[in-house]
Amino acid sequence: MLTTPSIAAHSATTPLAPLAIARRAVGPQDVQIDIDYCGICHTDLHVAKNDWGRSVYPIVPGHEIVGRVRAVGAQVTRFAPGQAVAVGCFVGSCGTCSSCADHMEQYCLNGYTLTYGSPSADPGGYTQGGYSKCIVVGQDFVLSLPDGLDAASAAPLLCAGITSYSPLRHWGIGPGMTVGVIGLGGLGHMGIKLAHAMGAKTVMITTSPGKAADALRLGANEVLISTDEQAMLAMANQFDFLLNTIPVSHDFNAYMSLLKVDGTMCIVGAIGPNAPLNTRPMILGRRNIAGSLVGGIQETQEMLEFCAAHGIVSDIELIKATDINLAYERMQKNDVKYRFVIDMASLV
Ligand SMILES: NC(=O)c1ccc[n+]([C@@H]2O[C@H](COP(=O)([O-])OP(=O)(O)OC[C@H]3O[C@@H](n4cnc5c(N)ncnc54)[C@H](OP(=O)(O)O)[C@@H]3O)[C@@H](O)[C@H]2O)c1
Ligand SMILES: [Zn+2]
Ligand SMILES: [Zn+2]
Repeated sequence: MLTTPSIAAHSATTPLAPLAIARRAVGPQDVQIDIDYCGICHTDLHVAKNDWGRSVYPIVPGHEIVGRVRAVGAQVTRFAPGQAVAVGCFVGSCGTCSSCADHMEQYCLNGYTLTYGSPSADPGGYTQGGYSKCIVVGQDFVLSLPDGLDAASAAPLLCAGITSYSPLRHWGIGPGMTVGVIGLGGLGHMGIKLAHAMGAKTVMITTSPGKAADALRLGANEVLISTDEQAMLAMANQFDFLLNTIPVSHDFNAYMSLLKVDGTMCIVGAIGPNAPLNTRPMILGRRNIAGSLVGGIQETQEMLEFCAAHGIVSDIELIKATDINLAYERMQKNDVKYRFVIDMASLV
C-alpha cells in the first residue's frame, strides 16, 4: 500500500480539506502515476456537495488527471516509467458486456468503476480521485498523453473534452451543419472549440452577455443570449444539433424550437428529473432529445490525438491546492474562465 496526500470533501457542508489516503500496491496490470495536474469539473462540486444524494465521505474528487508514470506492474506492456499519461472519469468496467465489447465502457451494463466514489477493492472500499499526488490505475484505463499538448491545459480534456467530443462525433458533426453549445463553462468552451475544429458553424448559447467576446475568440461564429426571447425566436429552426451543458434542472422547451426538423438536443449537464417536457416541438418537428455520458477509453485516446492535431487545449486558471475552496465558490457563482486546474506540485 502507498500513502499519498490528497484534498477531500469530508461532508456536504464543510470546506474541502487535506487528507492522507492509501492507494493499493501496484498489481501486475497496474500503472502508478505521479499526478502533475487535475482539473476541477462541475461534477466534482455536485459530488462534494452531495447534490445527487449518493456521496460517501470522505471523498477525493478529480477525474481530469494528467501525470507521469512512476512504476508499472509486471504485465504492463503499453506504459513505462517517465511516460506522460492521463486518466479520465472511470477506471474499470466489466470488460465482457456488449457495451464494453463495443468500446463504450461508460455504458457498461454491469456497472463501471468511476475514478472516485465507486465501491472498489481499493483501500477504504471506494475509489478516490485525482486531487492527490499519486494514483494507481489498471493499464486498460490509462491514456497516453500525446506530445505537443501542454500538460496543465490538457487535463480538462479528460472529462470536459471527451464529454463534448463524444456526442459531436456520434451525431456526425461536420461542415454544413450548425451546432449550438448551451452554457459557456468547462464543457461548453470545449464544445465550441471542438465543433469549430470539426468544421461546423457554431453558436454559443449563453445566459451571460459578458461572455460574448470570449465565445467568439473560442471559435463561435455567433452568440445567442438565451434570455433574449426575441433573439431566441429569430433563431428558431436553425440548428442541426444542440449540446446542452447547463448543470441544473431547467426548462428544455425554451431550446427545442431552435432545432431544425430531425435536429437533436443532447443533454450532458442536468441529470435526473427536469421541468415538464412539452412534446409539441418534438412532434411538430420530429425533433429529438438525447443524453450522453463522457466517452469510451478508445474514443478518449482518439479525442486526445484530435486535440493534438488541431492544437486544442482548455483555457485554464492554474490554482494552488490551498485555493480549491475559492475555486468551488467561484464555480458556483458561474465565474470560471473556463476551467480550474490544480497544480499538484503545490500539494504537500
Ligand atoms: N454527461 C457527462 O458525461 C458529464 C461529464 C462532465 C460533466 N457533466 C455535467 O455537466 C454540467 C456542466 O459541467 P461544467 O463543468 O461545464 O460546468 P461549469 O463550468 O460550471 O459550466 C456550466 C455553464 O452552464 C451555464 N449555467 C450555469 N447555471 C445555469 C443556469 N441556472 N441556467 C442556465 N445556464 C446555466 C453557465 O454558462 P453561461 O454563463 O454561458 O450561461 C455555466 O458556465 C455539470 O452538471 C456536470 O456535472 C456531465
Ligand atoms: Zn467531469
Ligand atoms: Zn461492461
